[in-house]
Amino acid sequence: MKTALIILAAGKGTRMNSDLPKVLHPIAHAPMLEHAMASGAVLDPARIVVVAGHGADLVRKAALDFHEGAEIVEQVEQLGTAHAVAQAKDALAGFDGMALVLYGDTPFVQPQTLEKMQTALGSHDLVVLGFEAADPDRYGRLILQGETLQRIVEFKDANEDERAITLCNSGVIACKAELLFDLIDAVGNDNASDEYYLTDIIGIANERGLSATAVTCDEAETMGINSRADLARADAAFQARARSTLMADGVTLMAPDTVYLARDTVIGRDTTIEPNVVFGPGVTVESGATIRAFSHLEGCHVSRGGIIGPYARLRPGAELAEDVRVGNFVEIKNAQIAEGAKINHLSYIGDATIGTKSNIGAGTITCNYDGVMKHHTHIGDRVFIGSNTMLVAPVSIGDDALTGSGSVITSDVEAGALALSRAPQIEKPGRARKMFEMLKAKKAKAQRSS
Ligand code: UD1
Ligand code: CA
Repeated sequence: MKTALIILAAGKGTRMNSDLPKVLHPIAHAPMLEHAMASGAVLDPARIVVVAGHGADLVRKAALDFHEGAEIVEQVEQLGTAHAVAQAKDALAGFDGMALVLYGDTPFVQPQTLEKMQTALGSHDLVVLGFEAADPDRYGRLILQGETLQRIVEFKDANEDERAITLCNSGVIACKAELLFDLIDAVGNDNASDEYYLTDIIGIANERGLSATAVTCDEAETMGINSRADLARADAAFQARARSTLMADGVTLMAPDTVYLARDTVIGRDTTIEPNVVFGPGVTVESGATIRAFSHLEGCHVSRGGIIGPYARLRPGAELAEDVRVGNFVEIKNAQIAEGAKINHLSYIGDATIGTKSNIGAGTITCNYDGVMKHHTHIGDRVFIGSNTMLVAPVSIGDDALTGSGSVITSDVEAGALALSRAPQIEKPGRARKMFEMLKAKKAKAQRSS
């Protein structure tokens, strides 16, 4: 059956105390909305409808950034979860398949759980995702009889017996789209909050002789985010899970608790990550690489056998081929570094290409920015760039060329050439001792006169 995701993301998130819509606050460098969209992706949805309200334009942009096929509908006034889902009705008119309602602020529902719900929908008209709550607090309670979910009662409307129930509603519901909108049409707002409750559709379905059931998951999956403190806990939970997954996949994390991962970090088998490494968004590391301590990587690719750091910074567009070495205090941005090249100490390489087996000496800088525009530096294969060379871009260094230490290279260097641009050295025999004597005499004179 085809699937449509309906992601509720209109809420303001007052307790975030923020100008940014709640669902755009990041967990592991990705908006929480993206996490929700990504977990729904396991069902290979034919449609993704995001219900936006507060900050709808920003929400639209984030949704489209992650999935260009996403559709955004606006819920101008937040009148309740049923009203929110109803906003997707026109967009999904005639959609013949399952609708799955997710919350944008509940980012960790696991793909396997959604698959379980999809399976249960084979034998029931509605499937709700529930969980045993350690502290059921203000969640809606699931009223089950055997396998049948009879209704959901919201905390505010529940009596004492119902409040004693610990099986709670996560908010995730699956149902045929057409039926979902049909049931929502019958929902009123005569309740303690004067809201249109999506949860009411379960009772209505039972009255109509339809069957509803609950699938359960771990409480951790249903964690909702309402405050910055929740956000921090959610990030920690994500990190713990992502680190375990990486280790199970054959990556060595020497001090797992000190490695910060992004939602989309990809690391190959038999790679070692030393302590205190931070991964920003968009990093892929192939097998058998080593990322040494205190390195910071974002938007970059490290190939097989690369050794990065300690204290290296790889910025967006850094593409490193096999066996590249990047040492301490080296920053690389928007640069393709070919196989076996080495940039081992104290360098900035930006907007550049570096050829196979070239060696970039300590303190080399590509001067890529003239204050207005960025320019490219090309370095060929097997080039040796002497320490402290300034490469003033645009500039190109031919294969097998050599630059003398301390050179400021402003024009292209031919293949095989030695380029030097520094003042010639002069030498004055015996002058060192004479100079110190002169200085000492000067100092003594100054002391006498003071
Ligand atoms: C809801 C459920 C409750 C469940 C709980 C789980 C209802 C009536 N109650 O309660 O059974 O235990 O979630 O966290 O469904 N939203 C909109 N538009 C609206 C209202 C809400 O987009 O008009 C979005 C919110 O931004 C949020 C989600 O829907 O992402 C849930 O809304 P919220 O008000 O937090 O519902 P709860 O009261 O927590
Ligand atoms: Ca909530």
